[in-house]
Amino acid sequence: MADVNESRRGFLSRLLLALGGLAGLEAGWVATTFFGARREVGSNEQRDKVMVAGPVDRFQPGSVTPFRDGEFYLARLEGGGFLALHRKCTHLGCTVPWIPDENRFACPCHASAFDIHGDVLSAPAPRPLDVFPVSIENGLVKVDITKPIRRNAFEPQQISAA
Ligand code: FES
Repeated sequence: MADVNESRRGFLSRLLLALGGLAGLEAGWVATTFFGARREVGSNEQRDKVMVAGPVDRFQPGSVTPFRDGEFYLARLEGGGFLALHRKCTHLGCTVPWIPDENRFACPCHASAFDIHGDVLSAPAPRPLDVFPVSIENGLVKVDITKPIRRNAFEPQQISAA
């Protein structure tokens, strides 16, 4: 009888050891997969931080074009230069629509308004809309959407020349 119990105990010990090993392997696989995927996503995010908005000629002077994926509006000013304006209101962060007939952005939340430069026309917004850097390369407008840039006032040097 003692031999049977010893045998059972031995079998159970080996079984538990094997299950523990399997659990360890699975945990290792999950960790590798998880961190591997995170690295992949990170590198994709990095690559996608510069958005190609399109050819310069696609944007008429005096126009405002929304880019939902990048969360910005591309404003082409009358002089031909560009501003990429973050679509979040600087008051409490509501999405600010462009109203073409009124030639201004009008926040639906608390009635702030901004001009085509993103400058404040009416409070409570405390400062202009944030901007993203714009560059023109080989006739293409590119917007770096890594991080919006906070500004206290509109200044002409914020405009990217075409
Ligand atoms: S969030 Fe735009 S005015 Fe308040």
